[in-house]
Amino acid sequence: MENNARIAVLLRQIAALLEEQGVDFKPTAYRRAAKVLDELKRDVSSFKELKELEGLPGIGESIAKKIQEYLKTKRIAALDKLLGMQGGIPPTLMEVEGLGPKRARQLQMALGIQTVADLARAAGQGKLKGLPGFSETMQAKLLANTKRVSERTRRFPREELKDDVATLLKKIRSVSGVERCEVAGSFRREKETVGDIDVLVVTRSAKNVSDAIALLPFVRDVVAHGDKKLSFDLKSGIRVDIRLVKRDQWGAALLYFTGSKEHNIALRKRAIQRGWKLNEYGLFEGEKIIASREEEDIYKALELPYTEPRQRTDILS
Ligand code: CTP
Ligand code: MN
Repeated sequence: MENNARIAVLLRQIAALLEEQGVDFKPTAYRRAAKVLDELKRDVSSFKELKELEGLPGIGESIAKKIQEYLKTKRIAALDKLLGMQGGIPPTLMEVEGLGPKRARQLQMALGIQTVADLARAAGQGKLKGLPGFSETMQAKLLANTKRVSERTRRFPREELKDDVATLLKKIRSVSGVERCEVAGSFRREKETVGDIDVLVVTRSAKNVSDAIALLPFVRDVVAHGDKKLSFDLKSGIRVDIRLVKRDQWGAALLYFTGSKEHNIALRKRAIQRGWKLNEYGLFEGEKIIASREEEDIYKALELPYTEPRQRTDILS
């Protein structure tokens, strides 16, 4: 009777949320249905037909459908919507590249796909193709992308990445049009483990440079390719995120992409206290730029000593 109890809880949640919105009658109907489920002597999953469910007192077509939806997908979209969730799609499913909320929702409804593992299984069994809007190519692409999710949520010991990073910087620096190139992110902060390799590049011809880097031999799969950002995976599976910026923006961008996130927040707060604004483009007073060229310039303007990347925490020295 686990289903009955669970669905009853969800129906009561719907009732409460509708009530909050000032909806008449419906809350009472949902509560009545919840009570019926709670008192029901057999599990609702044993009702195979919609018509059977509708035969129960207090359960009309709309609620019967929601019960079936729950049995199939373990969710009720209407409730998710009321809760303001992102279409009710578990965040992990949203981490699969090429899967937007709409498609994710569609897969959830049609095949009961909830997790990345569900998606990998269904795609592997060829169940996606044939659904409206899903081609065989799309199915193959999603299958490949599910494999990347676990790789991407994996963290790599910094030690293991040192050679990769050295090669990466050397090769990128030798690309024509690259003026400066440095590693940022957690690698620069010397964290023990690193989630991805963040790289900052200065160039005046971002498009050409981005194209040239994408063709370097160690690039496995390019996942984003533009003139502001280029992302790809190395053979080891680690993601590389390259940001291309203009020369004047170097310091502000390096500071921003080095993090930590907490350090950036603390710096931004300090800027705000002075009536300024700090972002990846620079430190500004209104439209006027105060500092941006080098990290040192920004620390100085904020009356802070230069902070080594490894020390960039939420506490400002
Ligand atoms: N950053 C940000 N906002 C974004 C993207 C990035 O503020 N939308 C900044 C963060 O301050 C972060 C840095 O860019 O420190 C790098 O981002 P990310 O790779 O997500 O974090 P890391 O600190 O490098 O940690 P991880 O090892 O998980 O990559
Ligand atoms: Mn990073």
